[in-house]
Amino acid sequence: MAQEKSYKYVIVGGGVAGGYAAMEFNNQGVKPGELAIISKESVPPFERPELTKAYINPETNPTLATIYVPSATGGEKQYAKWYKDRGIDLHVSTEIVKADLASKTLVSDDGTIFKYQTLLIATGSTFIKLSEIGIQEADIKNIYYLREVEDLDDIAGAMEFYIQNGKSVVIGGGFLGIELSASLRANNHEVTMVFPEPWLLHQLFTPEIASFYEGYYANKGIKIIKGTVATGFSSNSNGDVSEVKLDDGTTLEADMVVVAIGGKPVTSFFKGQLEEEKGGIKTDGFLKTSNPDVYALGDVATFPMKMYGGMRRVEHADNARKSAVQAVKAIKAAEEGKSIPEYDYLPYFYSRFFKLSWEFYGDNVGESVLFGDNDPKSPKPKFGTYWVKDGKVVGVFLEGGTPEENKAIAKIAREQPSVESLDVLSKEGLSFATKL
Ligand code: FDA
Repeated sequence: MAQEKSYKYVIVGGGVAGGYAAMEFNNQGVKPGELAIISKESVPPFERPELTKAYINPETNPTLATIYVPSATGGEKQYAKWYKDRGIDLHVSTEIVKADLASKTLVSDDGTIFKYQTLLIATGSTFIKLSEIGIQEADIKNIYYLREVEDLDDIAGAMEFYIQNGKSVVIGGGFLGIELSASLRANNHEVTMVFPEPWLLHQLFTPEIASFYEGYYANKGIKIIKGTVATGFSSNSNGDVSEVKLDDGTTLEADMVVVAIGGKPVTSFFKGQLEEEKGGIKTDGFLKTSNPDVYALGDVATFPMKMYGGMRRVEHADNARKSAVQAVKAIKAAEEGKSIPEYDYLPYFYSRFFKLSWEFYGDNVGESVLFGDNDPKSPKPKFGTYWVKDGKVVGVFLEGGTPEENKAIAKIAREQPSVESLDVLSKEGLSFATKL
């Protein structure tokens, strides 16, 4: 007979949001036996962004434990023992394959039935495969995707050991493509990036910001091919990838390929049971879904963006952390008949690669104003961009900022000060933010 387990709270998904939700349940005094986390991954929740930063960095080369949640925000690291000591059941290597929200039942891949009173969905995203956009890659080896720790172990194994100093092609010019290219280059690979957009990180960067990073990458020996897409691959007699074919008819030699063309939220087994919007599970300002006993957190949630109006789904770690905390606070407050303020999220994105490090806060809409030293050859480049809409600063990007300066730009994005003219911003540069 199938095993049945019953909990007051169940979190499906042991990633960033799942880990931070457990942290907040602990802060709120969850009792032993009340909470379970069910995770497809074989390890406790960790800070996923560090996979392409610290985890495969040949200089730091840390163990996974150094990036367990909540290391990014400085709290006590949640080792497997942390969960055990608190009576929180962490079911790793356990995939939920069926959910029946009407009977409050989940079923895992080994047939275990999990019953809950309140469910938190934190299943995150998964990568989009080339085959989903019509490109055949089946049966060709050394083509990699990245999401989970095993994916990064496979990539690290290939780049450091069996394809040493090889030719790598990175397909995609977004966050992951940029960070992974730096790691490959740091491992002495000959790296070419290919993407269809006209510049790097097209959804966030202005052409001026991108031009700095493209110049910097060129100086590092990374080749960037823009405005074209991969259409297929050739392989050698071992079945290893040997060439990437591009839609302009040219080919690139390749010993390994990393594909980073975007992600999609993992919501399939809740289909038809919850309202959806913009590809995610629709929530209110407490991360509560259309079912009052079900909450959605992190990448899967489409929530009201209080600052800007409308609904947004945000595939970034900061939102995963904060939405998780908000949901747990809302659940506990509701139990006590209290209310808490609605989620008021300020978008925050960041990245680190080579010796560079940038942060962005707010909204990248309206007119943009560049300031500072954005010469890719500068020994210590430091520059940024303000976005101005309706006479107010609504977004700020800063490369090379100190923690205090990054705090200052976050404050600007939150407070949205008025600005006399774009010229003022351009002349004052970073001091416009730091003097506030
Ligand atoms: P997350 O993906 O972290 O966790 C989802 C969990 O649910 C996983 O453990 C998964 O296995 C599990 N799961 C899924 N289906 C399941 C099922 N059916 N049963 C059980 N478990 C299931 N963001 C950023 O702001 N800055 C950055 O620099 C980066 N860098 C970065 C690098 C890399 C390599 C990746 C892959 C992603 C980033 N991100 C990022 C994005 C960021 O990591 C992402 O937004 C958060 O991890 C989202 O947290 P979630 O908890 O929603 O999903």
